[in-house]
Amino acid sequence: MTSPTPSPQLETKIEILDLRHFNARQLRPLLEEQAQVWKKRLRWNYEASTELLLKYLDQQILPGFVALLRGRILGYCFCVYEGNKAVIGDIYVLAEAPSRLAVTHTLIRHLLEVLEASPEIDRIESQLLLFEEGQISPAFTSSGFTIYPRLFLECDLPATPIPTPSHDILATANLDLIPWSPNLYQASAELIHASYIGHLDSDINDQYRSLHGSLRFLHNIVRFPGCGIFDPEASWLLRDRATNALAAVILCSRVAPDVAHVTQLCIAGPYRGYGLGKFLLQHTMSRLPSGHYRALTLTVSEANEPALRLYTSAGFHQRLRFEALVLDKTVHPERFKIPTQAEPATEGSGLFAAFSRKKATPARN
Ligand SMILES: CC(C)(COP(=O)(O)OP(=O)(O)OC[C@H]1O[C@@H](n2cnc3c(N)ncnc32)[C@H](O)[C@@H]1OP(=O)(O)O)[C@@H](O)C(=O)NCCC(=O)NCCS
Repeated sequence: MTSPTPSPQLETKIEILDLRHFNARQLRPLLEEQAQVWKKRLRWNYEASTELLLKYLDQQILPGFVALLRGRILGYCFCVYEGNKAVIGDIYVLAEAPSRLAVTHTLIRHLLEVLEASPEIDRIESQLLLFEEGQISPAFTSSGFTIYPRLFLECDLPATPIPTPSHDILATANLDLIPWSPNLYQASAELIHASYIGHLDSDINDQYRSLHGSLRFLHNIVRFPGCGIFDPEASWLLRDRATNALAAVILCSRVAPDVAHVTQLCIAGPYRGYGLGKFLLQHTMSRLPSGHYRALTLTVSEANEPALRLYTSAGFHQRLRFEALVLDKTVHPERFKIPTQAEPATEGSGLFAAFSRKKATPARN
């Protein structure tokens, strides 16, 4: 499938401008419509993310583009930088925009052209949950991106309390169940990093590949609203009674007043396959205030069979299928000009200068 393009008549009328020429007031209606779509499709209250994005827009620190037709804003896209990686945060075009998908592809092409030509960027990642499979991937595959199918799952929670699972399994495995606490930051990041060594999800999100990256991942989840508002009371760990080493972690956020979202679940390698994942999931569900929460949601890679089996047996079902998009430029050095040590990229050079690298925190993981 090829990327759709606007009709020649429309294409000449559509203007694509740098996002940093626009302020929060100008983009608010577009972002508010986008928030409504997040709510409808994912039961996700996007307002906190919207406010953070609007703040960044007013600070003119978000690289991206805006599409306009006769001066009217139709859509936007933005990315954030994490070291040498660019994460495409979101792309949204008004529902009533003419040739909506073609305008979306035009925005993607502009963003990719800049990111591909920037020698400082060696990796581009994105997970755009509002787009169904195949809607936008042609624009990415033609640039050499790898596509990873992902699922958004949900589990409807009953109005009556969910029974607490038996703790016998913890005694057998010599583990303590402990609530999240900020002093477990470092140990949790170490567990996350170790759990994803050689895992498919570390091909999708390279933060998992290092301890530093896993700390950053955790920091984004706990401190920023991109993945919902972190809920320490719905986040639990399993700790070895003898060694004090962490064996498992489940982290949850509130993505709407009545919807919780699992942002992380991992069990250390030696503890897998004994029912601990199932225990943590059931324990977390049983501790969510009943009658208050109506659903628990999460995302999982379609090829992650152990996780998918766990979630299916716990009562989760698919709400939508989307795609994670990854370009590792170092795999195609002939296509992308990646600086060698002998010729390091300079901040003022070429297209790099078009997107200055002022720091912004990702709006979503
Ligand atoms: C996915 C993960 C959390 C499962 O935890 P676990 O403690 O090993 O799972 P459990 O022992 O509780 O098993 C629960 C169910 O999953 C199934 N399962 C567990 N490991 C499996 C495997 N390797 N292959 C197939 N099924 C598996 C079990 O059969 C069980 O299903 P059942 O209740 O129908 O018998 C764990 O493998 C893990 O941490 N993986 C790495 C990180 C990860 O992928 N996290 C999820 C990201 S979305």
